[in-house]
Amino acid sequence: MSLYGRFIPKGPSGFGYSSTAEEVSAGLDLRGKNYLITGSNSGIGRETARVLSVRGATVLMAARSQAKAVEAGRNFAQSVIPLECDLSQPGSVRQCVEQVKQTGRLLDGIIANAGIMALPRWEQRYGCELQFLTNHVGHFILITGLLEQLGDKGRVTLVSSRAHHRTYAEGIQFDNLSGEKGYSPWQAYGQSKLANLLMARSLAKRFANSGRLANAIHPGVIVTNLGRHLPGVGRQLLRWINPLFLKSIPAGAATQTWVTVHPDAAQHQGQYLADCNLGTTSAWGRDELLAERLWVESEKIVSALEQKADA
Ligand SMILES: NC(=O)c1ccc[n+]([C@@H]2O[C@H](COP(=O)([O-])OP(=O)(O)OC[C@H]3O[C@@H](n4cnc5c(N)ncnc54)[C@H](OP(=O)(O)O)[C@@H]3O)[C@@H](O)[C@H]2O)c1
Repeated sequence: MSLYGRFIPKGPSGFGYSSTAEEVSAGLDLRGKNYLITGSNSGIGRETARVLSVRGATVLMAARSQAKAVEAGRNFAQSVIPLECDLSQPGSVRQCVEQVKQTGRLLDGIIANAGIMALPRWEQRYGCELQFLTNHVGHFILITGLLEQLGDKGRVTLVSSRAHHRTYAEGIQFDNLSGEKGYSPWQAYGQSKLANLLMARSLAKRFANSGRLANAIHPGVIVTNLGRHLPGVGRQLLRWINPLFLKSIPAGAATQTWVTVHPDAAQHQGQYLADCNLGTTSAWGRDELLAERLWVESEKIVSALEQKADA
């Protein structure tokens, strides 16, 4: 536990900044349940997958390659289902959707956890800036493709970030989703994380009057491979302040674990959670019109991608 974490009181959920994924799922029996997690080979995604497995769940571990998923889940408590799902390749995501369907399993939860952050140079693929494509569009294809596989009480958790506050001035730059008219590494990351948050809101609206839930979370700040594009001095600084202020990986995995599996989290629909309690979004993060527009534009992007032979 970091020094800072020792002084932060727990919130109304009974959990808080320093709670770990094991603590927030203690006593839960997840045998017979199925959870799909993207980015499950590294960082907080792997820890979430490990803990769900300890609780008895079958984890469908999606990673950029099947080999990475196999390797990551090798010593887990339960056998896992490794899946290739490269979120920056629409064809790979569609194949993953088909593979999940072929398992015949109903999903109790989908955790859209994979992400890339602050690419120093502008990169685009299929007309989308790479962070928007990977963090949002890939997950949009995956989640909407699997809605029929989601159980009646299934939960979708999108791993957003407090960085959603740092998006472009217009929230989502619909006239520049490729980034070619201008690119800022952090604002593009913020935009993609805002998209995660808005997608949770839109899904929640579509889940109204059903037992299904959709929420977004901020996991905290945790030293993981996510920082691979930071300059060397930034990575060094994070390592120094880590024991003082930052979350451990087990604590970083707690909020997404709690909101996906804990009975008390069933009260949350379309919310943004941090430290296993309600968090504070930006004004854009609460904008229903923006959320709806993003949904419609994402559907258009996905259907255009389906027409492209190379996507
Ligand atoms: N760490 C933090 O401080 C922090 C703060 C706020 C939000 N978050 C969010 O938390 C989530 C997990 O991040 P982390 O900190 O655990 O980082 P991480 O260790 O780098 O994990 C990210 C995961 O995403 C995967 N990924 C990246 N690009 C992918 C692609 N094209 N297709 C499929 N998978 C891909 C990575 O796979 P590879 O290993 O193959 O690259 C890795 O498994 C991210 O969504 C991030 O935005 C993290």
